[in-house]
Amino acid sequence: MSRFSRITGTGSYLPPRRLTNADLAAELAAQGVETSDEWIVERTGIRARHFAADGVNASDLGVEAARLALQAAGREAAEVDLIIVATSTPDMVFPSSAAILQHKLGVAGCPAFDVQAVCSGFVYALTVADAMVKTGSARCALVIGAEVFSRILDFKDRTTCVLFGDGAGAVVLEASDEPGILSTDLHADGKHAGILCVPGHVSGGQVLGSPMLQMDGQAVFKLAVGVLEEAARSALAKAGRTEADIDWLIPHQANIRIMQSTARKLKLPMDKVVVTVDQHGNTSAASIPLALDSAVRSGQIKRGDTLMLEGVGGGFTWGAVLLDF
Ligand code: UT7
Repeated sequence: MSRFSRITGTGSYLPPRRLTNADLAAELAAQGVETSDEWIVERTGIRARHFAADGVNASDLGVEAARLALQAAGREAAEVDLIIVATSTPDMVFPSSAAILQHKLGVAGCPAFDVQAVCSGFVYALTVADAMVKTGSARCALVIGAEVFSRILDFKDRTTCVLFGDGAGAVVLEASDEPGILSTDLHADGKHAGILCVPGHVSGGQVLGSPMLQMDGQAVFKLAVGVLEEAARSALAKAGRTEADIDWLIPHQANIRIMQSTARKLKLPMDKVVVTVDQHGNTSAASIPLALDSAVRSGQIKRGDTLMLEGVGGGFTWGAVLLDF
């Protein structure tokens, strides 16, 4: 049995429709909702986001990212023996988007399931895959974050609808004698469920409660900056490493101010932080693998670099994965 799991390929996919803040502000103005590029950039760092076309689901975005990750890893879909999709915007109530994506990849047989931890979904899914690889249950896993948050946005609520976007990112995680994932650290505290939620549910053939995203932005902001530092320190301690060992911090891409604050607390300069929130907005579980893949493909991240991946979001959930790339 191999002692480690290691990322051997990354991929990502954004739906083609891109809206700048000015584009979105113009669409919202037509519905009587007032916002501006200045407000969005100053408060969040977001400049643009992508929205999926009608009928395009999380599995459609995810399968594109998965194909690119497989290509980068030099693997065929038939070699994959585990598929985990992190999503809070699945194609349907059931079956899982992972099962649907598996079929779109043209394979069958291996286990496929979704992980639901909202914006922490990717670090949760990667942690599960790491454990399954290390215990010998899988040797070649696809771990995907895929979201169509545009489907759950209330475009009359300017405090949330300007923040989110659609997209997908994926990694191939393989059994390896070399590290690999060094440590993981996951948490949840359900007492904060109400500060970021989509409270609606299906019952008796109807949607009961609102099917739109609701957020107390300031409460989420305050919790996020505290827990991201804690999770990073905990993951470092478990691996016997220090902040100085981090080559790249890849935090969940929600707000540049949260990322700056986390970097400051970890004494990392911003040029060690991968930032894609400006171009993608907040893509929830897709944000970390999207950021990872864009930094790998741009040549920022190199083989052997030590990466700290950090997620935080609804649940309340948070966590970190420290790895040698
Ligand atoms: O993915 C999970 C993690 N999610 C997050 O990390 C989100 C965390 N929270 C945040 O990023 C920030 O709290 C927000 C970006 C959501 C909000 O920023 P803020 O600096 O906390 O703004 P605020 O909520 O205090 O609002 C300030 C003002 C308000 O006006 P008044 O009451 O001061 O007159 C809002 O009505 O900004 C107004 N405002 C807007 N104005 C123009 C709120 N949204 C907008 C908007 N355009 N889109």
